[in-house]
Amino acid sequence: MRLDKYICKSSELTRNEAKKLLKSGEVTVDGEVIKNGAFKVPEGAEVISSGQVLSLLGHRYIMMNKPQDTICSNVDEVHPSLLHFLDVDRAFELHIAGRLDADTTGLVLITDDGQWSHNITSPKKHCEKTYRVWLEQPLIEQDLDETTEQFKNGVQLNGENGLTLPATLVAVDETEMLLTITEGKYHQVKRMFAAVGNKVIGLHRESIGGIVLDDDLMMGEWRDLTEQEIAKFS
Ligand code: URA
Repeated sequence: MRLDKYICKSSELTRNEAKKLLKSGEVTVDGEVIKNGAFKVPEGAEVISSGQVLSLLGHRYIMMNKPQDTICSNVDEVHPSLLHFLDVDRAFELHIAGRLDADTTGLVLITDDGQWSHNITSPKKHCEKTYRVWLEQPLIEQDLDETTEQFKNGVQLNGENGLTLPATLVAVDETEMLLTITEGKYHQVKRMFAAVGNKVIGLHRESIGGIVLDDDLMMGEWRDLTEQEIAKFS
C-alpha cells in the first residue's frame, strides 16, 4: 500500500493532511524518514509518525434501520443517500451490502469490506432475508394457502428466466406477512406479490442471514455490529 494511503487508513487524516505530514519529515518506515507519499510500505513494516506507531484501522461493520425516502447509494439522487445518517468519519467510503428500495425501511448492513458484503449479496450464497410485508389484498384461508404454496414452488417474475427460488411465507394477520427469500432480484418482493395478483403497500426488512434488526433501533439509527454478527459472513 502507498504510504499516504497507509497514513489515512491508520488515522483520521485526509490524503492532503497526510501529504503535509510526510513533507514535514515526521514519518519513518522501518527507521528511515520517508517524504514520498507514493512509497510502497513493505508488508509488516513499522510506520511511525511523530513518535507513534501507526497501525491500520480494521474494517467497519454497521447495521442501520433505513428510513423511508432514502436510497442505498453513495450518491444522492431524488432522495438522499442513507449514509447521511451515519455520523462517522469518511461515511461515504462505506457501501451498503444489499440494497433496499427508497420506500422500503429496515435492516441495511454497511461496511468497507468488499469480501464480506460479497458473501451477503452473491447469488451463489443464497443468503436468507426476511421481510415484513403489508399487502393491499387480504390473504386468508385458501388464498393464503395457495400463495404460500406458489412461493414455495417458485413464481415467474415478469421479464425473468425461470422461477424464483423456494420462499417461505408466514401470515401475521390477513394483510401482514413475513416472507423469507434467498435471492435479491430487483424489486423482488414487490414483483413476487404482483406475480400472484397482489400489491405490496409497505415493506420492511427484519433480518439478513441471522443478523436481526434491533427492536429499539429507530429509523435512521445505527450501531456497530458485534464480533459474532461479523463472523457470520467472514
Ligand atoms: N424487494 C423489494 O421489492 N424491494 C426491496 O426494497 C427489497 C426487496
